[in-house]
Amino acid sequence: MATFEETEQDFNRLPDLPAEVFTAPLKKPDHVGDDWLEPQQTQYDSDDDAIWNDLFERQMGVLPGRAASAFMAGLQKLNLNRGGVPEFGKLSEDLTALTGWSVVPVPMLIPDHVFFWHLANRRFPAGNFIRTRETFDYIQEPDVFHDVFGHVPMLTDPVYADYMQEYGRAGWKAMRHNRLKALGSLYWYTVEFGLIEEKDGIKAYGAGILSGPTEVVYAIEAESPNRIMLNVDRVMRTDYVISDLQPTYFVIESFEDLYRQTVERDFDKLYRNLGPGFTYANTAVIDVDYVVNRGTLEYTLRGGRGSGAKPV
Ligand SMILES: [Fe+2]
Repeated sequence: MATFEETEQDFNRLPDLPAEVFTAPLKKPDHVGDDWLEPQQTQYDSDDDAIWNDLFERQMGVLPGRAASAFMAGLQKLNLNRGGVPEFGKLSEDLTALTGWSVVPVPMLIPDHVFFWHLANRRFPAGNFIRTRETFDYIQEPDVFHDVFGHVPMLTDPVYADYMQEYGRAGWKAMRHNRLKALGSLYWYTVEFGLIEEKDGIKAYGAGILSGPTEVVYAIEAESPNRIMLNVDRVMRTDYVISDLQPTYFVIESFEDLYRQTVERDFDKLYRNLGPGFTYANTAVIDVDYVVNRGTLEYTLRGGRGSGAKPV
Protein backbone atom coordinates (compact mmCIF):
# COMPACT_ATOMS: atom_id res chain seq x y z
CA MET A 1 0.00 0.00 0.00
CA ALA A 2 1.38 3.40 -0.98
CA THR A 3 1.98 5.91 1.76
CA PHE A 4 0.03 9.14 1.78
CA GLU A 5 3.24 10.98 0.95
CA GLU A 6 3.85 8.80 -2.13
CA THR A 7 0.35 9.36 -3.47
CA GLU A 8 1.12 13.10 -3.64
CA GLN A 9 3.07 12.29 -6.80
CA ASP A 10 0.46 9.96 -8.25
CA PHE A 11 -2.90 11.56 -8.79
CA ASN A 12 -4.33 8.61 -10.69
CA ARG A 13 -5.30 6.87 -7.49
CA LEU A 14 -7.21 8.00 -4.46
CA PRO A 15 -5.16 7.44 -1.29
CA ASP A 16 -6.40 5.68 1.79
CA LEU A 17 -6.49 8.37 4.40
CA PRO A 18 -4.12 7.55 7.28
CA ALA A 19 -5.74 7.84 10.71
CA GLU A 20 -3.38 10.64 11.79
CA VAL A 21 -4.45 12.92 8.91
CA PHE A 22 -7.32 15.12 9.95
CA THR A 23 -10.37 15.64 7.76
CA ALA A 24 -13.91 16.70 8.58
CA PRO A 25 -16.03 13.65 9.43
CA LEU A 26 -18.62 13.27 6.66
CA LYS A 27 -21.09 10.42 6.41
CA LYS A 28 -20.95 8.93 2.92
CA PRO A 29 -24.41 8.23 1.49
CA ASP A 30 -24.88 4.54 0.62
CA HIS A 31 -25.45 5.15 -3.09
CA VAL A 32 -22.04 6.71 -3.82
CA GLY A 33 -18.69 4.95 -4.07
CA ASP A 34 -15.25 5.98 -2.80
CA ASP A 35 -15.13 8.71 -5.45
CA TRP A 36 -18.31 10.24 -3.96
CA LEU A 37 -19.74 10.74 -7.46
CA GLU A 38 -23.47 10.44 -8.07
CA PRO A 39 -24.34 7.68 -10.59
CA GLN A 40 -26.21 10.30 -12.59
CA GLN A 41 -27.27 13.92 -12.56
CA THR A 42 -30.62 14.79 -10.96
CA GLN A 43 -33.51 15.05 -13.42
CA TYR A 44 -34.61 18.61 -12.77
CA ASP A 45 -38.26 19.58 -13.31
CA SER A 46 -39.66 22.79 -14.74
CA ASP A 47 -39.85 24.47 -11.30
CA ASP A 48 -36.14 23.74 -10.78
CA ASP A 49 -35.32 25.10 -14.22
CA ALA A 50 -37.34 28.24 -13.44
CA ILE A 51 -35.30 28.75 -10.26
CA TRP A 52 -32.08 28.46 -12.29
CA ASN A 53 -33.41 30.91 -14.89
CA ASP A 54 -34.48 33.45 -12.25
CA LEU A 55 -31.15 33.21 -10.44
CA PHE A 56 -29.36 33.60 -13.77
CA GLU A 57 -31.36 36.68 -14.69
CA ARG A 58 -30.82 38.28 -11.30
CA GLN A 59 -27.05 37.86 -11.59
CA MET A 60 -27.01 39.26 -15.10
CA GLY A 61 -28.52 42.42 -13.67
CA VAL A 62 -25.44 43.02 -11.50
CA LEU A 63 -22.48 41.27 -13.14
CA PRO A 64 -21.68 43.33 -16.27
CA GLY A 65 -18.92 45.79 -15.38
CA ARG A 66 -18.25 44.04 -12.06
CA ALA A 67 -17.40 40.45 -13.05
CA ALA A 68 -13.98 39.60 -14.48
CA SER A 69 -13.87 39.55 -18.27
CA ALA A 70 -12.70 35.91 -18.16
CA PHE A 71 -15.87 35.01 -16.27
CA MET A 72 -18.19 36.84 -18.69
CA ALA A 73 -16.41 35.22 -21.63
CA GLY A 74 -16.79 31.80 -19.97
CA LEU A 75 -20.55 32.26 -19.61
CA GLN A 76 -20.72 32.90 -23.35
CA LYS A 77 -18.41 30.06 -24.36
CA LEU A 78 -20.46 27.54 -22.39
CA ASN A 79 -23.86 28.96 -23.37
CA LEU A 80 -24.95 28.87 -19.76
CA ASN A 81 -27.94 31.04 -20.62
CA ARG A 82 -29.59 28.40 -22.81
CA GLY A 83 -32.28 27.98 -20.11
CA GLY A 84 -32.70 25.60 -17.18
CA VAL A 85 -30.12 23.74 -15.13
CA PRO A 86 -27.30 22.76 -17.50
CA GLU A 87 -26.91 19.13 -18.44
CA PHE A 88 -23.47 18.07 -17.18
CA GLY A 89 -22.75 15.79 -20.16
CA LYS A 90 -23.07 18.62 -22.67
CA LEU A 91 -21.40 21.12 -20.33
CA SER A 92 -18.43 18.81 -19.81
CA GLU A 93 -18.15 18.19 -23.55
CA ASP A 94 -17.84 21.94 -24.19
CA LEU A 95 -15.51 22.50 -21.25
CA THR A 96 -13.26 19.54 -22.09
CA ALA A 97 -12.82 20.91 -25.61
CA LEU A 98 -11.65 24.23 -24.13
CA THR A 99 -9.42 23.29 -21.18
CA GLY A 100 -9.74 19.55 -20.51
CA TRP A 101 -11.98 20.00 -17.45
CA SER A 102 -15.28 18.25 -16.77
CA VAL A 103 -18.10 18.78 -14.27
CA VAL A 104 -19.22 15.85 -12.11
CA PRO A 105 -22.24 15.62 -9.76
CA VAL A 106 -21.75 15.04 -6.01
CA PRO A 107 -24.47 14.70 -3.35
CA MET A 108 -23.07 17.19 -0.84
CA LEU A 109 -19.78 18.61 0.41
CA ILE A 110 -17.25 15.82 -0.05
CA PRO A 111 -14.15 14.86 1.98
CA ASP A 112 -11.11 17.03 1.37
CA HIS A 113 -8.83 14.34 -0.02
CA VAL A 114 -11.52 13.26 -2.53
CA PHE A 115 -12.17 16.88 -3.53
CA PHE A 116 -8.44 17.47 -4.10
CA TRP A 117 -8.20 14.24 -6.12
CA HIS A 118 -10.98 15.35 -8.49
CA LEU A 119 -9.42 18.79 -8.97
CA ALA A 120 -6.00 17.27 -9.60
CA ASN A 121 -7.65 15.28 -12.41
CA ARG A 122 -9.49 18.30 -13.82
CA ARG A 123 -12.91 17.24 -12.59
CA PHE A 124 -14.99 19.88 -10.86
CA PRO A 125 -17.44 18.40 -8.31
CA ALA A 126 -20.79 20.22 -8.40
CA GLY A 127 -23.80 19.86 -6.10
CA ASN A 128 -26.50 17.57 -7.49
CA PHE A 129 -29.40 19.69 -6.24
CA ILE A 130 -30.78 23.21 -6.59
CA ARG A 131 -32.01 25.54 -3.88
CA THR A 132 -35.74 26.09 -3.31
CA ARG A 133 -37.78 29.31 -3.54
CA GLU A 134 -37.56 29.49 0.28
CA THR A 135 -33.75 29.48 0.18
CA PHE A 136 -33.53 31.49 -3.05
CA ASP A 137 -31.44 34.30 -1.51
CA TYR A 138 -29.03 32.36 0.62
CA ILE A 139 -28.01 28.76 1.18
CA GLN A 140 -25.01 27.57 3.16
CA GLU A 141 -24.45 24.30 1.27
CA PRO A 142 -23.29 24.93 -2.33
CA ASP A 143 -25.97 23.95 -4.86
CA VAL A 144 -25.74 23.52 -8.62
CA PHE A 145 -26.26 27.24 -9.22
CA HIS A 146 -23.36 28.27 -7.02
CA ASP A 147 -21.13 25.50 -8.34
CA VAL A 148 -21.91 25.70 -12.04
CA PHE A 149 -22.79 29.34 -12.56
CA GLY A 150 -20.22 30.58 -10.02
CA HIS A 151 -17.25 28.29 -10.66
CA VAL A 152 -17.43 26.67 -14.07
CA PRO A 153 -17.15 29.74 -16.38
CA MET A 154 -13.71 30.49 -14.90
CA LEU A 155 -12.56 26.99 -15.83
CA THR A 156 -12.70 28.05 -19.49
CA ASP A 157 -9.68 30.29 -18.84
CA PRO A 158 -6.57 28.16 -19.54
CA VAL A 159 -4.37 29.68 -16.84
CA TYR A 160 -7.08 29.65 -14.20
CA ALA A 161 -7.85 26.04 -15.18
CA ASP A 162 -4.20 25.15 -14.51
CA TYR A 163 -4.31 26.99 -11.19
CA MET A 164 -7.29 24.92 -10.04
CA GLN A 165 -5.50 21.71 -10.94
CA GLU A 166 -2.40 22.85 -9.05
CA TYR A 167 -4.58 23.67 -6.08
CA GLY A 168 -5.88 20.10 -6.10
CA ARG A 169 -2.34 18.74 -6.34
CA ALA A 170 -1.32 20.90 -3.38
CA GLY A 171 -4.08 19.50 -1.20
CA TRP A 172 -2.69 16.21 0.02
CA LYS A 173 0.52 17.92 1.11
CA ALA A 174 -1.46 20.34 3.28
CA MET A 175 -3.33 17.41 4.82
CA ARG A 176 -0.09 15.57 5.57
CA HIS A 177 1.20 18.65 7.43
CA ASN A 178 -2.20 19.17 9.04
CA ARG A 179 -2.34 22.67 7.55
CA LEU A 180 -5.62 22.42 5.65
CA LYS A 181 -6.86 25.65 7.19
CA ALA A 182 -4.01 27.56 5.57
CA LEU A 183 -4.61 26.07 2.13
CA GLY A 184 -8.35 26.52 2.65
CA SER A 185 -7.73 30.22 3.18
CA LEU A 186 -6.02 30.45 -0.21
CA TYR A 187 -9.08 28.82 -1.82
CA TRP A 188 -11.38 31.17 0.03
CA TYR A 189 -9.57 34.36 -0.94
CA THR A 190 -9.05 33.34 -4.57
CA VAL A 191 -11.51 30.74 -5.93
CA GLU A 192 -14.44 31.92 -3.78
CA PHE A 193 -13.79 35.61 -3.09
CA GLY A 194 -11.02 36.68 -5.43
CA LEU A 195 -10.75 40.05 -7.16
CA ILE A 196 -8.59 40.88 -10.17
CA GLU A 197 -7.15 44.13 -11.45
CA GLU A 198 -8.29 44.84 -15.00
CA LYS A 199 -7.57 47.84 -17.26
CA ASP A 200 -10.83 49.55 -16.32
CA GLY A 201 -10.77 48.72 -12.64
CA ILE A 202 -11.09 45.91 -10.12
CA LYS A 203 -13.42 43.01 -11.03
CA ALA A 204 -14.57 39.87 -9.26
CA TYR A 205 -13.66 36.32 -10.32
CA GLY A 206 -14.54 34.43 -7.08
CA ALA A 207 -17.59 32.17 -7.24
CA GLY A 208 -18.82 33.16 -3.78
CA ILE A 209 -19.07 36.74 -5.01
CA LEU A 210 -20.42 36.02 -8.49
CA SER A 211 -23.21 33.63 -7.54
CA GLY A 212 -25.11 36.08 -5.29
CA PRO A 213 -26.49 39.59 -5.84
CA THR A 214 -25.28 41.48 -2.76
CA GLU A 215 -21.60 40.69 -2.53
CA VAL A 216 -20.94 41.52 -6.19
CA VAL A 217 -21.81 45.16 -5.57
CA TYR A 218 -20.24 45.25 -2.10
CA ALA A 219 -16.95 43.64 -3.14
CA ILE A 220 -16.44 46.06 -6.02
CA GLU A 221 -18.00 49.31 -4.82
CA ALA A 222 -18.48 49.42 -1.03
CA GLU A 223 -16.17 51.47 1.18
CA SER A 224 -16.22 48.96 4.05
CA PRO A 225 -13.87 46.23 2.85
CA ASN A 226 -10.11 46.33 2.59
CA ARG A 227 -8.73 45.48 -0.84
CA ILE A 228 -5.15 44.25 -0.69
CA MET A 229 -2.86 42.86 -3.39
CA LEU A 230 -2.56 39.12 -3.00
CA ASN A 231 0.53 37.51 -1.56
CA VAL A 232 0.17 33.76 -1.10
CA ASP A 233 2.10 33.63 2.19
CA ARG A 234 0.06 36.47 3.68
CA VAL A 235 -3.28 35.01 2.57
CA MET A 236 -2.51 31.59 3.97
CA ARG A 237 -2.02 33.17 7.39
CA THR A 238 -5.33 35.06 7.31
CA ASP A 239 -8.64 34.08 8.91
CA TYR A 240 -11.88 34.43 6.94
CA VAL A 241 -15.64 34.78 7.43
CA ILE A 242 -17.85 31.93 6.26
CA SER A 243 -21.39 33.26 6.45
CA ASP A 244 -21.13 37.01 5.91
CA LEU A 245 -19.67 39.54 3.50
CA GLN A 246 -15.88 39.63 3.67
CA PRO A 247 -14.11 42.42 5.58
CA THR A 248 -11.08 41.99 3.28
CA TYR A 249 -10.56 40.95 -0.34
CA PHE A 250 -7.28 40.07 -2.00
CA VAL A 251 -6.63 41.33 -5.51
CA ILE A 252 -4.50 39.57 -8.12
CA GLU A 253 -2.78 41.35 -10.99
CA SER A 254 -3.37 38.42 -13.36
CA PHE A 255 -4.15 34.70 -13.35
CA GLU A 256 -0.59 34.12 -14.53
CA ASP A 257 0.69 35.80 -11.38
CA LEU A 258 -1.63 33.75 -9.16
CA TYR A 259 -0.50 30.55 -10.87
CA ARG A 260 3.16 31.49 -10.60
CA GLN A 261 2.93 32.43 -6.93
CA THR A 262 1.28 29.08 -6.19
CA VAL A 263 3.51 26.72 -8.17
CA GLU A 264 6.73 28.46 -7.22
CA ARG A 265 6.09 28.43 -3.49
CA ASP A 266 7.65 25.56 -1.59
CA PHE A 267 4.61 24.58 0.45
CA ASP A 268 6.52 21.99 2.53
CA LYS A 269 8.72 24.80 3.79
CA LEU A 270 5.77 27.14 4.29
CA TYR A 271 3.77 24.57 6.30
CA ARG A 272 6.74 23.87 8.54
CA ASN A 273 6.81 27.58 9.42
CA LEU A 274 3.08 28.00 9.94
CA GLY A 275 1.44 27.57 13.32
CA PRO A 276 -1.80 25.62 13.52
CA GLY A 277 -4.06 28.70 13.71
CA PHE A 278 -4.20 31.94 11.75
CA THR A 279 -1.79 34.82 12.39
CA TYR A 280 -3.95 37.65 11.04
CA ALA A 281 -7.56 38.57 11.72
CA ASN A 282 -9.75 38.95 8.64
CA THR A 283 -9.92 42.71 9.27
CA ALA A 284 -6.15 43.22 9.61
CA VAL A 285 -4.01 45.45 7.43
CA ILE A 286 -0.32 44.79 8.06
CA ASP A 287 2.72 46.86 7.26
CA VAL A 288 3.94 44.71 4.36
CA ASP A 289 0.56 44.88 2.58
CA TYR A 290 0.22 46.62 -0.75
CA VAL A 291 -3.16 48.17 -0.02
CA VAL A 292 -5.41 49.09 -2.94
CA ASN A 293 -8.20 50.48 -0.73
CA ARG A 294 -8.12 50.64 3.02
CA GLY A 295 -11.71 49.93 4.06
CA THR A 296 -13.75 51.76 6.67
CA LEU A 297 -14.92 48.32 7.94
CA GLU A 298 -18.21 50.03 8.74
CA TYR A 299 -20.38 47.08 7.75
CA THR A 300 -18.34 44.63 9.79
CA LEU A 301 -17.99 46.90 12.84
CA ARG A 302 -21.73 47.55 12.92
CA GLY A 303 -22.29 43.83 13.33
CA GLY A 304 -22.62 42.54 9.78
CA ARG A 305 -25.32 40.09 8.75
CA GLY A 306 -28.30 39.95 11.08
CA SER A 307 -27.53 43.37 12.65
CA GLY A 308 -29.34 45.40 9.99
CA ALA A 309 -26.02 47.02 8.95
CA LYS A 310 -26.02 48.19 5.34
CA PRO A 311 -23.36 46.69 3.07
CA VAL A 312 -21.81 50.07 2.32
FE1 LIG B 1 -17.79 27.38 -4.14
